[in-house]
Amino acid sequence: MQKKSFDKYYKPAEDTFFLADNIQNEKGHAALDIGTGSGYLANILSNNFELVVATDISLDALKKAHESVENCICCNSADALHCSFDLVVCNLPYLPSDQVADPTVDGLEEGLGITSGIIKSASNTVGKNGKLVFLTSSLANYQELIRRTESLGFSAKIVSKKKLFFEELILVECVKL
Ligand SMILES: C[S@@+](CC[C@H](N)C(=O)[O-])C[C@H]1O[C@@H](n2cnc3c(N)ncnc32)[C@H](O)[C@@H]1O
Repeated sequence: MQKKSFDKYYKPAEDTFFLADNIQNEKGHAALDIGTGSGYLANILSNNFELVVATDISLDALKKAHESVENCICCNSADALHCSFDLVVCNLPYLPSDQVADPTVDGLEEGLGITSGIIKSASNTVGKNGKLVFLTSSLANYQELIRRTESLGFSAKIVSKKKLFFEELILVECVKL
């Protein structure tokens, strides 16, 4: 994930494709893609899930996602949802930053300021035996993010890593206890 000139929505990039590769074989009834951007991950999920819901805080992103994803909701993380999903995925805005100049990537202090809140909200929508899968990076304090996720009642482990030129992508899988 790299800072670029501010765009209307996040175009699928290396991090998107890495997460996509790791969720493409997941199956179930209902899945949620938080911070869907273009809707790329929600589309992958729709191959194996009967119901796919996508959220984002950006209306521009949702306009793009809605070209191919039926259930798009504009809200913070999963705040508008009071139901549970078999799988919740999120490619987080994890870059450490002093302020949120670009909400597609800026994650405030240690890349935790935004992501912790997103995961807290997401945790309420993960059903019994459900899974939360999120992407973070060596640029963020990912150990602390994992600790905070565990404190919400999950068992969390790093299931895959990918080295890029400027960072290492870190995929975390969390199972509700
Ligand atoms: C790194 S982009 C990922 C986009 C897409 N999922 C992908 O993998 O290409 C992060 C996305 O999260 C959205 N976002 C940022 N903060 C959010 C929040 N609090 N609630 C929901 N979406 C948020 C951004 O608008 C952006 O679309």
